[in-house]
Amino acid sequence: AKDPIKVIVTGAAGQIGYALVPMIARGAMLGPDQPVIIHMLDIESAAGVLKGVKMELIDAAFPLLKGVVATADVVEACKGVDIAVMVGGFPRKEGMERKDVMSENISIYKAQASALEQYAAPDCKVLVVANPANTNALILKEFAPSIPEKNITCLTRLDHNRALGQISERLNVHVSDVKNVIIWGNHSSTQYPDVNHATVNTGNALKPVRELVGDDHWLNADFITTVQQRGAAIIKARKRSSALSAASSACDHVRDWVLGTPKGTWVSMGVYSDGSYGIPPGIIYSFPVTCEKEEWSIVQGLNIDEFSREKMDATAKELVEEKSLAYSCLN
Ligand code: NAI
Repeated sequence: AKDPIKVIVTGAAGQIGYALVPMIARGAMLGPDQPVIIHMLDIESAAGVLKGVKMELIDAAFPLLKGVVATADVVEACKGVDIAVMVGGFPRKEGMERKDVMSENISIYKAQASALEQYAAPDCKVLVVANPANTNALILKEFAPSIPEKNITCLTRLDHNRALGQISERLNVHVSDVKNVIIWGNHSSTQYPDVNHATVNTGNALKPVRELVGDDHWLNADFITTVQQRGAAIIKARKRSSALSAASSACDHVRDWVLGTPKGTWVSMGVYSDGSYGIPPGIIYSFPVTCEKEEWSIVQGLNIDEFSREKMDATAKELVEEKSLAYSCLN
C-alpha cells in the first residue's frame, strides 16, 4: 500500500473547507488509491466548529483517510505536510477598504509562509485559494524563499471550469468535450477568459469553439463578463460565496499538478511569471499550463491577437498594482 500523503487545509472551519475536506478524503484530489492524512488549521475562535468538522470526518468512515489533525497551532498544522491548500483568510467586512483587507491577509500569508518553510516537507506544493489569491501566493513565495517558486501557485481553475461550463451550456455539449480555454491574469474581475484556442470534441473531430459558437459578439462580450462576474452572481443567488465549486476546482488543480494533465489538454494555474507572453516577471499570473512528473510548464507559442493582448496587459497591470499595495501594507 502507498504511504499516506499529508495535506493541510487552512481555514478548514469555513465554508470551502467544509466542502473540500470530504472531497480530499474520498480521493478526489490525489486519486482513488492514495491514502491521505488531513491537517486542518483554523483560528482559535473557530476551534469548536473545527472540532465538529473533525467529528464528521471520523463519522464518514472514509477508507482512504488515515488521520485527521484539527488545530489552531500553525506549527503543528504545517508539520511534514506534502500539499498545502491555503483557504484561510480574512473576509472583507462592510465598510472596509481594499487596503485594509489586503493588509490583514498579507500579514497572515507572511506568517504562514515562515511556518511552511520551517515545518512542511521540503518539496511541499502550495495552492493558495484565499483572496486576493494571486497576491497572497506572491507574499507566501517571497517570505518562504527556500520553497522552490515552482511549488507556489494560486487557484484560477474555478474560473477555468466556469468558462468550460459556459461554453458547454451555450453549445449544448458535454463539459468534458470542451477543452483548452485559458484564464489569463488575476483571480478578479479583470481576469481574461480566452476561448481563441479552445476546442470541442464533436465525436469525429476537434472543432474550434469560435467556429461552433459562430457569434463573436457573445464570445467577446457576454461570455467574458459572465465568467468574470460569476462569483458575484453566486453570492447574489446563494447569499454566500462559491464553495462546492471552489473546493472541486482546488481538487482539480492539485490532481492535475500531481498526476499530470491529459495529453493535448492544458489547464489554467496562477504561477510565478517568467516573462512568458510579455507578462512582467515577479507577479503570480494565471497562464495555460500542462503538467507532467509533478511539474507545471507554461504552454508556449500561442498566437495572441490585439484584443487578447490588451486584456492580458490590463489584468497584469492590476497585479503589479496589487503587489505594490501589498508591499506598502508590509512596511
Ligand atoms: P469562510 O470565511 O467561510 O472561511 C475562511 C476561514 O478562514 C474561516 O473559518 C476563518 O476562521 C479562517 N481563518 C481566518 N484567518 C485564518 C488564519 N490566520 N489561519 C487559518 N484560518 C484562518 O470563507 P470561504 O467561503 O471558505 O472562502 C475562503 C477564501 O477563499 C476567501 O478568501 C474567498 O474569497 C476565497 N475564494 C477564492 C476562490 C478562488 O477561486 N480563488 C473562490 C472562492 C472563494
